[in-house]
Amino acid sequence: MLVLGIETSCDETGIALYDTAHGLLSHTLFSQIDMHREYGGVVPELASRDHIRRVLPLIEQALQAAQRKLQQVDAIAYTQGPGLAGALLVGASIGAALGFALNIPALGIHHLEGHLLSPLLSDPVPEFPFVALLVSGGHTQLMQVEGIGCYKLLGETVDDAAGEAFDKTAKLLGLGYPGGAALSKLARQGRPRIFKLPRPMLHSGDLNFSFSGLKTAVLTLLNKQEITEQTRADIALAFQDAVVEVLTEKSLAALSQTGLSQLVVAGGVGANEHLRQNLNLKATRHGATVFYPSLEFCTDNGAMIAFAGALRLQADGLTKQQSTSSFNVKTRWDLETLES
Ligand code: KG4
Ligand code: ZN
Repeated sequence: MLVLGIETSCDETGIALYDTAHGLLSHTLFSQIDMHREYGGVVPELASRDHIRRVLPLIEQALQAAQRKLQQVDAIAYTQGPGLAGALLVGASIGAALGFALNIPALGIHHLEGHLLSPLLSDPVPEFPFVALLVSGGHTQLMQVEGIGCYKLLGETVDDAAGEAFDKTAKLLGLGYPGGAALSKLARQGRPRIFKLPRPMLHSGDLNFSFSGLKTAVLTLLNKQEITEQTRADIALAFQDAVVEVLTEKSLAALSQTGLSQLVVAGGVGANEHLRQNLNLKATRHGATVFYPSLEFCTDNGAMIAFAGALRLQADGLTKQQSTSSFNVKTRWDLETLES
């Protein structure tokens, strides 16, 4: 079965072709980051307009790279939510229109389901059940994953997402948008233990997170001293250490609470080297194994959507899905409400 995946939930247009017999055949991506950078964040209207411009050429490129024709596609999987309404509508309308025209099913996929299944595209492959740490620009959640569509929320952020905290702190440090990767690069020049920032909710006794206080703590530090290039790097390191320690400790606590021994990390912040090193070290001591998507599939992409669609269609059977001309998007969508 050949599945065409379409991701347009935020500021990346991602397309992929996944074949259930041969794996991922091709994927293409256009990131709008350069366009949004001058505004310091994603401008929803510009995002939707750019998705419209990119989506069809990217589909053509993906087909060409996979040496397949549109008529060979058996099903479409598009991101139905959560995300920006206008951006989601581009992928959903193209997906539904192609499905209707080709008389094949077009399936709406939950963006976070795509992220949390993305490590299954890499080798070694985790097996169900596992704990998933979802750390992106919009979400920070610990989920217990029993199988496709069986997701139990163990804990989540009560305010900012981890990626959002990275981005806001990066802005305070004078780095560009989005700042996660740049902050992490700057932190490499930082000296350990020069500054110590709080570990929010580390001992809260639950699996929830809070990151909004950290940027205020960073601002207070910045206002207190003369800022040199070295201090900026020291603060970047102190911030990263605080986030990484909280994410690591809560992930280990989730493994203990559930009695599971596999941790899957997904979402943009999962690209953070320091987080990966610390999780690997602590999880090994804990007797657990950590799985990551390859770096290119940590951030938004079409491959994870095509793949999640293929798994769902394999589980449900292609014939159960009808092609239909109607579609909707869900800007807010609780992952726990999904069914297998
Ligand atoms: O999953 P993603 O592409 O988009 C959402 O669905 O939100 O994640 C983007 C987030 C941004 O906040 C970005 O700053 C962060 O992931 N990010 C990082 C790194 N690379 C990307 N954060 C920390 N360290 C990194 N190396
Ligand atoms: Zn995402």
